[in-house]
Amino acid sequence: MTFAVVGTPGDRRPALFAAACRSSGLPEPRLTAWTDVLRGAEPVLRPGDLLRVDSPGEDPEADALLRGPGEPSRVGGGARWHRTFTAALGRLSASASAAGARLLGDVEEIAVMFDKRLAHARLRAAGVPVPPALPQVDGYAALRERMDAAGERRVFVKPAHGSSASGVVALQTAPGRVRAVTSAFMAKDGLFNSLRVRAYETEAEVAALIDALAPDGLHVERWLPKATVGGRVFDLRVVVVGGEPTHAVVRTSRHPMTNLHLGGTRGDLSTVQRALGADGWQRALDVCARAAACFPGSLMVGVDLLVGQGMKRLAVCEVNAFGDLLPGLTGLPGGPAEGLDTYTAQIRAALPVCTT
Ligand SMILES: Nc1ncnc2c1ncn2[C@@H]1O[C@H](COP(=O)(O)OP(=O)(O)O)[C@@H](O)[C@H]1O
Ligand SMILES: [Mg+2]
Repeated sequence: MTFAVVGTPGDRRPALFAAACRSSGLPEPRLTAWTDVLRGAEPVLRPGDLLRVDSPGEDPEADALLRGPGEPSRVGGGARWHRTFTAALGRLSASASAAGARLLGDVEEIAVMFDKRLAHARLRAAGVPVPPALPQVDGYAALRERMDAAGERRVFVKPAHGSSASGVVALQTAPGRVRAVTSAFMAKDGLFNSLRVRAYETEAEVAALIDALAPDGLHVERWLPKATVGGRVFDLRVVVVGGEPTHAVVRTSRHPMTNLHLGGTRGDLSTVQRALGADGWQRALDVCARAAACFPGSLMVGVDLLVGQGMKRLAVCEVNAFGDLLPGLTGLPGGPAEGLDTYTAQIRAALPVCTT
């Protein structure tokens, strides 16, 4: 049994997956570059192969093929990215079927996970707790109207097809005041991702920011005030493999976004487990399992789980199709991935599939 992988050569993900294959006694996976797939190449597949699709990562060439040419650090182009990416996934799925191989994942589910509006609606319809969303907005004026109508003072505005907090805005308003916290930097020639989280506090700037993000589609939801540990807000990234929550990390931050590249740091899981209590922790895992169950064709998903102040409220803010890059993290004690990294856990979960 051999894995074939679509990913970016030199990226950590396929390297870590290959290491997991080696340590599981499996042959070296065959890697096809995303850039080749995006240019129309088909991966070499043999009957029985399992085809793993990984994130293109931060490869500028793949990015240009997905979003079109331009500065790789720019914010935006998500709608085009999504169209190109899902079309490529469709071709990969067809190649796998034609070769008698099996795509580990589901094209439609990945497409939904990469559209925060659709993913939110799917979770909500399944009764999974999510922050309430506002109806669609096409710019700042509509956003403020919707917020007023819904009585919302604090919202998260997210590009529908974003990831890694790109273009995410934590917006709070009070009479005569507005404050937008974001890692996006407004330059004369557009919006750019930066590693620094900053605040825009004039209405003209905030309006320009939201209006620049809007054409690619926005998902707006209530800002759930997050619980803190050690004076920092946190959320949880819970990896669910084969329907079971296997790995969890606490992501803490001084900012409203906890993404690790923006200065978020891993927090102590046992502190959070104690604060939640045994019942609360079990509830948190159950919510993540129910979120993953909305994507039954996905071997692995990474659930971002918000824990509200007071440690009672739980809400899923995102389900990531490629949420497993957590180097060195081993599975939850007592669970099916105890002692295993996220990649080995997926290999174990996928193996029975190919022997049946
Ligand atoms: N509704 C919300 N309330 C509070 N914090 C949120 C909310 N939505 C997202 N966040 C925070 O913002 C960050 C990014 O949001 P997320 O939905 O995961 O998008 P991305 O795809 O950019 O990671 C996360 O760290 C999360 O904790
Ligand atoms: Mg996230």
